[in-house]
Amino acid sequence: MTMAKIIGGVATTHVPAIGKAIADGKENDPYWQPFFKGFDYVHDWLARTKPDVAVIFYNDHGLNFFLDKLPTFAVGAADEYRSEDEGWGIPVSRAAAGDPALSWHLINALVADEFDVTMCQNMLIDHAVTIPMALMWPTAAAAKASPAKPWPVKIVPVEINTVQHPLPSLKRCLKLGRSIGRAIDCYPQNLRVVVVATGGLSHQLDGARAGFINKEFDALCLDKIVAEPEALARYSIHDWVKESGSQGVEFLNWMAMRGALTGRVSELARNYHIPISNTAAATVVYDNQTDEARKAA
Ligand code: DHB
Ligand code: FE
Repeated sequence: MTMAKIIGGVATTHVPAIGKAIADGKENDPYWQPFFKGFDYVHDWLARTKPDVAVIFYNDHGLNFFLDKLPTFAVGAADEYRSEDEGWGIPVSRAAAGDPALSWHLINALVADEFDVTMCQNMLIDHAVTIPMALMWPTAAAAKASPAKPWPVKIVPVEINTVQHPLPSLKRCLKLGRSIGRAIDCYPQNLRVVVVATGGLSHQLDGARAGFINKEFDALCLDKIVAEPEALARYSIHDWVKESGSQGVEFLNWMAMRGALTGRVSELARNYHIPISNTAAATVVYDNQTDEARKAA
């Protein structure tokens, strides 16, 4: 039987101003070019690897969940995910198609693995999903007026609380990702799956340290996440905020994405640029070599 295949991982920053730059066609302006050029490789890689589905680890910022009710982990199980105006002055993204059968397979596996996730058959996606999708598939993003031309992938959004403390630990998010990776590996459908993480790297949007960026720590994260994610998983959330800023904890999404890469992982591309808005912007692509692929090669 043919099983689903995890082709690799992509992670990128999700700063809303990127959406405004896209809407205004500023990709080649001196401010933006160092960031957008990081996507040349991503576009080539996606054209070559042709994923059918993207499992996207991200954090909602108050569009779908607010402080009054905030799950630690939530998994989308909808036919379609719409976005709405969050007040950033950027066009509302087109809706993305879901894959409810895969969503329920992942939810069943997660709960069996003692991750008691919130199941969302209705879920709005915010800039943390729509900006990375627009960056990864710019032609589809531009075609939003034409419902006949959908996004080239279906999505399963996996939402992690990075907003209301207490947050889940880095270790817990790595394990969540591993559970999802194992579940994808045994999904009996011929699907090519890319796992995506959004947010980070170091940034702090408010408080006394607003504007805080730590490029030495970001470099350590980008080096360690490939072969030694456990080394990063040892940090407490408190120490992570100290090193990476209060919004640097969006790296929890990256840990989950890394966990979902169940094969032999290597870095194919890395782009790091500071700052974009208030954020240390990073874009990476990871290969996920499975035994099967190694034998075939
Ligand atoms: C910015 C960064 C974020 O992660 C976010 O969610 C919103 C804004 C910023 O740097 O402007
Ligand atoms: Fe954010």
